[in-house]
Amino acid sequence: MTNRVVLAYSGGLDTSVAIPWIAERTGAEVIAVAVDLGQGGEDLDTIRKRALACGAVEAYVADARDEFAEQYCLPALKANALYMDRYPLTSSLSRPLIVEHLVAAARQHGASVVAHGCTGKGNDQVRFEVGIAARAPDLKCVAPIRDLAMTRDKAIDYAEQHELPIETTKANPFSIDQNVWGRSVECGFLEDIWNGPTEDIYAYTADPAVPRPADEVVITFDRGRPAAIDGRPVTMLQAVTELNRRAGAHGLGRVDLVEDRLVGIKSREVYEAPGAITLISAHRELENVTVERDLARFKRTVDQRWAELVYDGLWSSPLKNALDVFVEHTNEHVSGDVRMSLQGGRAVVTGRSSAESLYDFSLATYDSGDMFDQSLARGFIELWGLRTKLAAKRDQRNG
Ligand code: ARG
Repeated sequence: MTNRVVLAYSGGLDTSVAIPWIAERTGAEVIAVAVDLGQGGEDLDTIRKRALACGAVEAYVADARDEFAEQYCLPALKANALYMDRYPLTSSLSRPLIVEHLVAAARQHGASVVAHGCTGKGNDQVRFEVGIAARAPDLKCVAPIRDLAMTRDKAIDYAEQHELPIETTKANPFSIDQNVWGRSVECGFLEDIWNGPTEDIYAYTADPAVPRPADEVVITFDRGRPAAIDGRPVTMLQAVTELNRRAGAHGLGRVDLVEDRLVGIKSREVYEAPGAITLISAHRELENVTVERDLARFKRTVDQRWAELVYDGLWSSPLKNALDVFVEHTNEHVSGDVRMSLQGGRAVVTGRSSAESLYDFSLATYDSGDMFDQSLARGFIELWGLRTKLAAKRDQRNG
């Protein structure tokens, strides 16, 4: 039987050229795999037909939007996942799910090799290949751009010579990766980190500087999961989609970041993730209300480590699996409503309400109705400060 290669296919120039390129260089049959993660744009059937027209023997297409929202975005929300405190991992989260579908297609079509269109400089090659190693250690990986000398110029020439049905003229200077959790834009003039992003690079967000009336939204959480918006029940996918639209209209969720890549270089990327940033802000505030202090403090460390592991391509790894259990457990009481005002690029929390609340009005109030026994504070402070006092006295003795 001829060797078969399963290729992660986007429908764009590089991965379209990769189909005949791989076939020519390796003698294998290529199966194209396209995964819908809510990135919008062309429909899957158009993409499927293009793959076949470029010479794929099979084209596997999957609508994985709900799966992505439920199994990847939701755990990220529960972990308030922000790499370097700002990047909501939009691209990082998608790779392990694409890997799942690549492996499924490889099994279904009897392929022994998996291919992706990443360069040798980025994080995504690591996420794909470590992901494959974790799920299907028997499969081999090949990256035509990195391993089979396929450059972008050569790809354009090749497509023209072979009359492949792809647009090669409109040279977009940016590298863009998008899905329902957000959008990543790099390259072009953004590589000069002094250059400010121009309005035209954004697609999910409107200009936050334009004055508009605020949009008030109430998000209901059930154990960390967004369960309703303004009282209407929603799935995770619906919650993200609706908030992308509503928060995006107020220019919310733009991030311009020079980040530390796994391969050691620093790179500049511009992100927009209106739904993700709004949900994380709301979720964090509900944690402030419902999670006990020490648990909340420790969770911040866990959240950060969780984000780093996912960024670093370790979605499937022993540490990440263990942290998942912790994150799930800490979300047990994160239920209730958060009211937010969306305006001018910001989501400002204006109210919270929860049956699981640890906020006790009668303890917090300074008005009549105060139940807090202030006489206890004196002794508490005496003991709390005792060791500090002893150390200070010694310092005094020693001059
Ligand atoms: N820097 C981000 C990450 O490593 C996004 C990578 C993909 N970006 C792109 N514009 N193609 O997760």
